[in-house]
Amino acid sequence: MLGAAEEAYLASNKKSWDEEAPRFFGRTALPVYGPFLPTESDLRLFGDVTNLKVLEVGCGSGHSLQYMASQGAAELWGIDLSDTQIVAARGLLSECKGIVNLFQGAMEKNPGIPTEYFDIVYSIYAMGWTVDLPSTLNHLHSYLKPGGKFIFSWEHPLHSRIEQSGDRLIVAKSYHEEGPQQCEPWDSPAIMNQLKLGTYINALIEAGFQIEKVVEDAVFEEDVQSSTPASWYSYQKASLIPPAFISSARKGEATGFPTLTKLGVDCDDQRLWRRVLENQPA
Ligand SMILES: C[S@@+](CC[C@H](N)C(=O)[O-])C[C@H]1O[C@@H](n2cnc3c(N)ncnc32)[C@H](O)[C@@H]1O
Repeated sequence: MLGAAEEAYLASNKKSWDEEAPRFFGRTALPVYGPFLPTESDLRLFGDVTNLKVLEVGCGSGHSLQYMASQGAAELWGIDLSDTQIVAARGLLSECKGIVNLFQGAMEKNPGIPTEYFDIVYSIYAMGWTVDLPSTLNHLHSYLKPGGKFIFSWEHPLHSRIEQSGDRLIVAKSYHEEGPQQCEPWDSPAIMNQLKLGTYINALIEAGFQIEKVVEDAVFEEDVQSSTPASWYSYQKASLIPPAFISSARKGEATGFPTLTKLGVDCDDQRLWRRVLENQPA
């Protein structure tokens, strides 16, 4: 259950995304992961998706799902907070063969998505919008089959804390401070939780993911050095600190052992039972 503050952030973010969505249609979509990041064609984190069931979280206008269809994915599922985005995605994906299932809803809740069902759950530049990272990750973990992949990209937590001032970078906000903040480049209300990279990594581990790769590299096209430093993501800044990152993780394989805490076994009994289950002398 989300608190009243989180519900209020979701409501105002939804209103803003419904109004602002058209200027983002297709802007950050696979094979692109985000500004200055290596692409999926470079990294091949998804591997062969032929006949796989995929779910995109914060699917926006559906351009990444369209890319998944072009790569042979069998089922395209998506969830997004914004009605405007879901309407755009429905239009874009109407020609796709195979199953398409799109939900308008918040990633912090399950609007009817099947559990233990997906080969891959992914999110391209949307995870930082969650108002409750642990509950979002618990849901995403539950949607995956054992061994399934969860891949996401997002703005690097250093990026908004460090500002460009002429040809120098200055620390504008403490890296240690976390919590809800107005997203700076937006004029309308847009509240996102400013977190640390370690918070994302620890939350993934706590939700039961095994992290396989974290990418913080920035890559530059030859002509990019002539770009102006005025934009939110500039070459000048990206050449010094990472503008974005990618995480690739896996849901652990099922062991076949019952979870002892779920059986109501207390701590000392757990040690005894584990030895019994693992066939060791007590
Ligand atoms: C930068 S866009 C992602 C764009 C997407 N990759 C594409 O190809 O169009 C971020 C998306 O996250 C969605 N979003 C924001 N908060 C959300 C939430 N709490 N739950 C689900 N989606 C959310 C927004 O509506 C928006 O479509």
